[in-house]
Amino acid sequence: MNKIKVGVVGTGHLGRFHAVNYAQIPEVDLVGVTDIEPGKARSVASETGCTPYHDLESLLNKVEAVSVVVPTNSHFNVCQKVLKSGIHCLVEKPIAQTTDEADRLIAMADQNRVIFQVGHVERFNPAMHALQGMKIEPRFIESHRLALFNPRGTEVAVVLDLMIHDIDVILSLVQSPVQTVDASGVAVVSDSIDIANARIRFENNCVANLTASRISQKKMRKMRLFQKDTYIAVDFLQKKSEIFQLVEKGKGGGLVVGDIGVEDKKREIIYQSPPPPQKEGLRKELETFIQTIRGKTPPAVTGREGRAALALAMVILEKSER
Ligand SMILES: NC(=O)c1ccc[n+]([C@@H]2O[C@H](COP(=O)([O-])OP(=O)(O)OC[C@H]3O[C@@H](n4cnc5c(N)ncnc54)[C@H](O)[C@@H]3O)[C@@H](O)[C@H]2O)c1
Repeated sequence: MNKIKVGVVGTGHLGRFHAVNYAQIPEVDLVGVTDIEPGKARSVASETGCTPYHDLESLLNKVEAVSVVVPTNSHFNVCQKVLKSGIHCLVEKPIAQTTDEADRLIAMADQNRVIFQVGHVERFNPAMHALQGMKIEPRFIESHRLALFNPRGTEVAVVLDLMIHDIDVILSLVQSPVQTVDASGVAVVSDSIDIANARIRFENNCVANLTASRISQKKMRKMRLFQKDTYIAVDFLQKKSEIFQLVEKGKGGGLVVGDIGVEDKKREIIYQSPPPPQKEGLRKELETFIQTIRGKTPPAVTGREGRAALALAMVILEKSER
């Protein structure tokens, strides 16, 4: 089997993890990395046993696919060179700075017939595994993504840096157009919004209430989904999920933790917490990218989905800045 020749553009905090993971995937030949700071590329290249390239063009001549892990304000500039060269591209989230940039990148990917995936890594979080095969029809969703302050990432508002993870997951679960958005936010420490709350109503009447903060005392990444007879708690930080379901007596497969209702209408509460896969989300995301290039898996988190998450994040940002 021929290995896919891969490179990484941008070897900062997250780019290093992309390179380290690619180096461990049997179907990948990690050919090289590049960074505008050559010392960073050299360091990651020596750690992962590949070649440090001085410029993007030299790397693109040697590979079939790249991860673009540069700051968001350079996503468009780097991705357009990648896509126009006919190279498959996995760009970190958010897809770009504007929906116009996103549209242009999607069009370039289509014209050049290459895979264009966006790095919304929470889709691949082991905690999401528990939801596979379940009928997901949430009526109400509550999400909290709280982080300690870190200057890295503060060049964009918390909505584009952190909340966009939950926006993408929620859009993938609800599968209904957005009807209304209400939001508020405050810039406490940085020049852009550090803490934000949004309430999204979908056309199917599902309501999602999202909170994101990067000035919190403790970390939290939780999403709670409420739907008829089922409550699902997804913990992205602990990488596990818990499911509580109401079933007729004796009809459920799981631990009975109580009952609810009266007399002959009594139903059992069943608890399940399926063991999550051991694989880290980033590894699964990169493997999916490679499998999609090979034509073995349908595209995951496409440019269009990345664009949809960005568009909703922009609406939330605009409303929270008022
Ligand atoms: N999916 C996630 O959970 C997650 C987490 C953190 C960051 N990110 C995203 O990843 C991207 C990178 O974030 P980071 O935290 O690794 O940033 P970083 O600043 O640590 O690294 C960025 C690297 O890109 C290099 N660079 C800048 N412009 C370049 C260019 N034109 N060509 C080549 N190299 C260039 C920089 O020198 C730096 O080494 C951002 O888009 C961010 O939103 C995603």
